[in-house]
Amino acid sequence: MNSQETDKLFLRALKGDVLSSPPIWLMRQAGRYLPEYREVRKNAKNFLNFCYTPDLAVEVTLQPLRRYSMDAAILFSDILVIPDALGQKVEFREGEGPVMEPVRSINDLENLSPNSLLEHLSPVFETVKILSREIPAETALIGFAGSPWTVAVYMVEGRGGTDCGQIKRWAFEAPDDFQKLIDMVTEATVAYLIEQIKSGAEVIQLFDSWAGILGQSQFHRWIIEPTAEIVRRIKAEYPEIPIIGFPRGCGMMYEDFVRKTGVNGISLDQTVPVVWARDNLQSHCTVQGNLDNHVLVVGGEAMENEIGLILETLTKGPFIFNLGHGILQFTPPENVAHMIDFVRNWKAL
Ligand code: CP3
Repeated sequence: MNSQETDKLFLRALKGDVLSSPPIWLMRQAGRYLPEYREVRKNAKNFLNFCYTPDLAVEVTLQPLRRYSMDAAILFSDILVIPDALGQKVEFREGEGPVMEPVRSINDLENLSPNSLLEHLSPVFETVKILSREIPAETALIGFAGSPWTVAVYMVEGRGGTDCGQIKRWAFEAPDDFQKLIDMVTEATVAYLIEQIKSGAEVIQLFDSWAGILGQSQFHRWIIEPTAEIVRRIKAEYPEIPIIGFPRGCGMMYEDFVRKTGVNGISLDQTVPVVWARDNLQSHCTVQGNLDNHVLVVGGEAMENEIGLILETLTKGPFIFNLGHGILQFTPPENVAHMIDFVRNWKAL
């Protein structure tokens, strides 16, 4: 199918079409900033259970589409379902985020196994199947996973918010052992994403929230190589499925990431200068981003000015409007509506 044969703007942008008005979706577009999400969440036993209950996951995926004109829906799940499916103890604590029993050595790896991976994750595939029937015809369905490095950060550190000292130490001290963890997560991620695609996902995004803490050599080994492997393996089976990378915070390494991983789209955090992105990234792939999620909390003129700077620079090439990171919990839902109207009505001078 070429870009003229699909009317989904989001897919056209990912094929390289330059559109007069950019497609929009938002990371964490389903979530606690929406009262209707909080209502559904109240009734779920715990967060992982919520992710594994197709009726609830479908409902919250659809909630932002009912309120706003989004060009894409993103499957409601979490990146930490992979460690959970590999057998690591994962718990989401209220106000604390994920807490897991850390994996810190080759011996700890023996407690993990990919044997029941796809069976364990089958409710997620069921959610994707239902969504692909239920979302509007002009809306694209995004499947996702965490990148191996970021998933490994949680697996090794055992929680968020650390200085990543444990994982870095393991990676520097015993790289060949640490490679086994990365390989295990990479294999699981490929199988998981291929199954999402079989179930109806039309685009894949890889979230690498902790890509920005590595030096050059480590970035190549733990970010670029596993990502390139995932892209190669998916493209071998599904060459038409676009893949978006999000190596958050990786600064100058964005360029190498785009050149060496084979992604079709690159999601930029808010620190990436848009003129630099236009000149160095947009000729290689579609650029997505990068409004500061904090200015969306503020709204008004401050937000409009920031949106204007992004659109003026990036709409001359293939572009998707998004945030630099996920929507924050205390974002007023009306600011999201205003942002979308502003982008849709924006005209270059
Ligand atoms: O974008 C979407 O709307 C789809 C759903 C989605 C969630 N998590 C739901 C979620 C996606 C794409 C993610 C990705 C994710 N999960 C990442 C990568 C992107 C990023 O934000 O950096 C990471 C690092 C995680 C791990 C994770 N999940 C953390 C650290 C937390 C706790 C922090 C928090 O915001 O509460 C979660 C929980 C989580 N995942 C929530 C949601 C809606 C909030 C949990 C709740 O409702 O109680």
